[in-house]
Amino acid sequence: MEYHVKSGDPARLATSCLVFGIHAKHRLSATAQAVDLASTGALKRQLARAGFDGAVAKTLMLHELPGIAAHRVLVVGLGEAGKLDAKGLRKVFAAAGRVLATASVADALVSLTADATGLPARAMARDLVTCVDEATYRFDRLKSKATPPKVPLGRVGLLAGDRSTANALRRGIAEGEAIAAGTRLAKDLGNLPGNICTPAYLAAEARRLGRGRSKLRVEVLEQKDMARLGMGALLSVARGSRQPPKLIVMHYRGAPARTPPLVLVGKGLTFDAGGISLKPAADMDQMKYDMCGGAAVIGTLAACSQLDLPLNVVGVVPSSENLPDGDANKPGDIVTSMSGQTIEVLNTDAEGRLILCDALTYSERFKPAAVVDVATLTGACVVALGHHASGLFTADEALAGELLTAGETAGDRSWRMPLWEDYQDQLDSNFADMANIGGKSAGAIVGACFLARYAKAFPWAHLDVAGTAWRTGNDKGATGRPVPLLTQWLLQRAGVVG
Ligand code: BES
Ligand code: MN
Ligand code: ZN
Repeated sequence: MEYHVKSGDPARLATSCLVFGIHAKHRLSATAQAVDLASTGALKRQLARAGFDGAVAKTLMLHELPGIAAHRVLVVGLGEAGKLDAKGLRKVFAAAGRVLATASVADALVSLTADATGLPARAMARDLVTCVDEATYRFDRLKSKATPPKVPLGRVGLLAGDRSTANALRRGIAEGEAIAAGTRLAKDLGNLPGNICTPAYLAAEARRLGRGRSKLRVEVLEQKDMARLGMGALLSVARGSRQPPKLIVMHYRGAPARTPPLVLVGKGLTFDAGGISLKPAADMDQMKYDMCGGAAVIGTLAACSQLDLPLNVVGVVPSSENLPDGDANKPGDIVTSMSGQTIEVLNTDAEGRLILCDALTYSERFKPAAVVDVATLTGACVVALGHHASGLFTADEALAGELLTAGETAGDRSWRMPLWEDYQDQLDSNFADMANIGGKSAGAIVGACFLARYAKAFPWAHLDVAGTAWRTGNDKGATGRPVPLLTQWLLQRAGVVG
C-alpha cells in the first residue's frame, strides 16, 4: 500500500473513491458540505433517502454524485459531533478500510482525519494506516488457487487542509507504516503452520531481516551454545522434538554503545502439543500460534529499524517445539536452569516458562534498562481477560504506566494483574527449588511469578498475550499483537511524542 498526503478541493480532486465523514443528526463535516454544495444538494438528498443516521462506523457507498470529480463517494458515520475519541475513530477507519478492501477501487482519497476535528493529526494518520492495513491483510500464500480481490486497493491519499497538518500527517503515516509492517510480519509468522514455521524457519526469518539493515545484527545460538551456557530448562523442552532449538538474538543499535538497551524477550514455541502432559485433540492446531510472542518481538525490531529509532534494543527469542517423545521431559523430571535454580517439571505443558527463564537469565548480560517479555503463556489469562486485553505483570510502577499508556495509545491494550509475593508459595516443590506449575488457582499470575524469579537483575514486565495474539472463529488468524503496543512504547522511550 502506498500512502500520501494531498490538498485541494475534495469535490474536484480526481480519485476512484472519496471517503469522508458525516456526524449524527445529519451534521455535515466540512468535506461533506463542500461535496453537497458541488453536487447541488444531491448528497443530502441521497443520505436522507438511504436513512443514513451518521452512527459511528456506519458506511454508505454512493455512485455518480453530480458535480463531483470522484467516481464514488464513501460516507462514514462519525457519531455525535465533538464526542468521537481516538478509539471511536479507529472503528471508523476500520469500517472504511473494510469497505475499500472489497470495493474494487485501486485508489482512494480520505478526508476522515480532517473531518474528525479535535484529535491530533499525526496520531490519526498513524491509526488510519494501521487500520487500513488490518482491513486489507490476507494470508493466502498456502492456497494453490488464491482469490485476491480483482482490483486491490493500492494507493490511499490523506486530505490535508494546511501545511502544518500535512507535515503531521506525513509523520503519522511513516509511523503507521512501520507499525503495520511489523504487525504484518508477526501475523505472517503466526499464521504459518508448525511444519513450515519451525525454530530454524524463525531464525532464518530473523536473519533475513538483519540483511541490508546496518543497525540490525542477528545472531542465532545453537543447541551446543545453549548447552555451554547451561540452559538446562530451555534444552529440556527441546529434547522431545526432532527440530533443533534456536535462541535468536537480534541487536538493534540506534544509540551509542554505552546506552543500556531495552530487551524484548518473546516465546517462540513453534508448536505446543503439551509434551508428555499431552493436550486434548480439540483445537490443538491453535498451538501453532504459540510462537506469537517471538513473532511480535521480531516484528517490533523490524518496526524499530524502519523508524530508525535512537535507541538500543535487543530481541531475544527462545524457540523450540514441545512434543511427546521417548526422550521428552517427563512429569517429575528435575532440570537445572542457566541461573542455577532447579525446577521440578510437574507438567510438561507448562513449557513456556521453561524456555523463557533461560532467555531472561541470558538477558542479564546486556545490562538492560528494562526487559519486557511477551508470551502466549497461560490459558488462565484468556479466562481472566478474554480477547480484549493482554495481561500485564510487573512490580515496576513506572514501567507499568509506560506500557499501559502505550497500549491505550496504540489501540492494543493491556490490563495490569497482581504480581504479589503471596502467590509465590504455590510454586513450592518438595524436591527442587521450585515447581513449574502451582495448582488450579490464579494460573496466569503464578506463571508470571515463576518468571519473576529469573528477572531480579533488571526492571521487568511480562505480557501474557494468550488471549490477544490470535483470533478464533470465522475470522481466524494471528493479530500481530502486541507489536503496536511495543512499538509505541519504543517511540515513547525514544522521546517521540504525538
Ligand atoms: N501455550 C500454552 C498456553 C495457552 C493455552 C495459550 C491455550 C492459549 C490458549 C502454554 O504452554 C500452556 O500449555 N499452559 C498451560 C499451563 C498449565 C499447565 C499450568 C495452560 O495454560 O493450561
Ligand atoms: Mn504448553
Ligand atoms: Zn505453550
